Amino acid sequence: MKRRDLIYLLSTVSLGFNFKKAEKEIQPSRGTFAIDGNRIRFYNAAIKKRFSMLMIADTHLFTDDHRGEPYQQYSGRMAKAYNQTKNFETGEATFPAACFQQSLSIAKKEGVSLVALIGDILSFPSEAAVEWVSEQMKNTGLPYLYVAGNHDWHYEGMSGSLESLRKTWIRQRLQPLYQNDHPLMTVREINGMLLVAIDNSNYEILPEQLSFFQKQLASKLPVLLMIHIPLYAPGRPVSFGCGHPEWGAKADQNYQLERRERWPEKGHTETTLAFHKEVVNAQNLIGVLAGHTHRQSLDVMNGLPQIVTNANATGAYLHIDFIPA
Ligand SMILES: [Fe+2]
Repeated sequence: MKRRDLIYLLSTVSLGFNFKKAEKEIQPSRGTFAIDGNRIRFYNAAIKKRFSMLMIADTHLFTDDHRGEPYQQYSGRMAKAYNQTKNFETGEATFPAACFQQSLSIAKKEGVSLVALIGDILSFPSEAAVEWVSEQMKNTGLPYLYVAGNHDWHYEGMSGSLESLRKTWIRQRLQPLYQNDHPLMTVREINGMLLVAIDNSNYEILPEQLSFFQKQLASKLPVLLMIHIPLYAPGRPVSFGCGHPEWGAKADQNYQLERRERWPEKGHTETTLAFHKEVVNAQNLIGVLAGHTHRQSLDVMNGLPQIVTNANATGAYLHIDFIPA
């Protein structure tokens, strides 16, 4: 055998060996997804066993009692919102508390592994509403996580930055809903998947949240991200506000209505923009789930699906199945 032929033979054998080794390793991947109405399926080779989750956002509970009376000047507008709603499927008259309970009974019937409450579960930080939600969750007996939306901690007209108001009312009212989790970021590992929730209810991402997210991605496990305010996707308005290039004072049409600090003149922080970039480029992030717009939508960015749920105030929710590919 000529020396040239021997080198060729050895390189082929060597390539074949490496190829087989590579075949055995499961590379981080986005896998695939499918949507049928509000039922989502994610398929991924790294999922060890099939399981499901129910995601709820924008219930907008307005329950309050005598303890909320001194705060009525701050809760008045939102206390009157979503008092009567129409079911997202049947059009029949309903209301937020009934919708929340119905969604939980579906979660229980389906035996989901997690209920994710992704913001605006409350219309303002009422003690009575927090107690009611805690009680409902306890009664289902299902594991759950919670992050706030822009209304959960907001008493309209109170002075202070969005970040400081969020901090205050998380501490004073929302705390029981976190069950000792970090209020701004949390993760659950289920059957080889990481389910990550990050609070972007002030429209921004903090440096510690970016690091936390990067740490989850570094695990190489498939990651699902849940945030209240959807991430900017091309062609979407500023209401897809997290990372939108035009987000900022000029585009802020609701600061007077919501009686809050106007969005900053200079737009998003570098960290928020870096987070957006990180999300869109992450190869083991299988999807983003969000709320806030009260309208179901799908955007696919660089192959990454972002699914926004319709409001739970109308009975809507997302039922998500995670299936080994
Ligand atoms: Fe909402």
